[in-house]
Amino acid sequence: MRIYRAKDYNDMSRKAANIISAQIIMKPDCVLGLATGSTPIGAYRQLVEWYNKGDLDFSEVTTVNLDEYKGLPKENEQSYYYFMNENLFSKVNIDKSRTYLPDGMIEDSDEACRRYNEIIHSVGGVDLQLLGLGHNGHIGFNEPGIAFETETHCVSLSERTIKANMRFFVSERHVPRQAYTMGIKTIMSAHKILVVISGEDKADAVQQAFFGPVTPQVPGSILQLHNDVTIVADEAALSKCPL
Ligand code: F6R
Repeated sequence: MRIYRAKDYNDMSRKAANIISAQIIMKPDCVLGLATGSTPIGAYRQLVEWYNKGDLDFSEVTTVNLDEYKGLPKENEQSYYYFMNENLFSKVNIDKSRTYLPDGMIEDSDEACRRYNEIIHSVGGVDLQLLGLGHNGHIGFNEPGIAFETETHCVSLSERTIKANMRFFVSERHVPRQAYTMGIKTIMSAHKILVVISGEDKADAVQQAFFGPVTPQVPGSILQLHNDVTIVADEAALSKCPL
C-alpha cells in the first residue's frame, strides 16, 4: 500500500488525476472504475482541464461506476448517472455507450445486479478502480458488516450514510434507502486501486481502515490485502495515522 500525503484537497485532486491520466496514457483502452461523492470532484475537474488542453484522450476508455441509488431515474440530479455526466462524461470525448453504472430503475434487485455483474465481466475487469472512503469505513455502498466475497448487490443504506448524503437532497426523507453497489469481491479484483480521501472528518476512518485490523466492520480495511493500492489523502485525513 502506497500512501501519498497531499497538502490539501487541491493537491490531493491533482495527484489523483495524475495517476488516472497515467493509466489512460499507458493504456488508452483501459477500463476505469469510477466513484461519485464529494472527494473525486476535484480530480475529475483536473482531468477535464487536461483534456481541454489536449493532453488526454478518453475516446477508447470504458468506465464502470461503483454504485447507483435504487429508484432514482437518470434525469434526477442526485442520481450518480447525472453526477458522472455533469462532472466528467459530458466534458470529455468519452464514448457514452461505454460508460456504465448500475441501472437504478430496475425494480428487481437480483436482475439489476446480475446485469451489472455481466457488464463488468464483459468489459474484461477493471484496470484502475477509484474509491472514496465513507466515515464508517464503507467503500462503494458496502456498509459495515458486509461479507467480503460479494459481487454487485442491493444494499440498505446505514443511518450514518443516509445522514452524510442528506446534504445533497431536499431533506433526509428524500434520500433513497437502497442502492446497487459493486461488492467487495468486485472491487478487490481490480488490477489497481486508487483511494482519495480528504478532511479531518475522515481521519478516524483512515486510521481504522488502513492501520487497524482487517474486518468486515470496516469494509475499507480489506484493501490492506490488495497488492496494488495507492492512497492519496490530505494532511487532515492522515492526521490520526502513525506515519
Ligand atoms: C461513491 C461511493 C462512496 C463514497 C464515500 C465517500 O460512489 O461509492 O463510497 O466514495 O461515501 O463519499 P464522499 O467523497 O462524498 O465523502
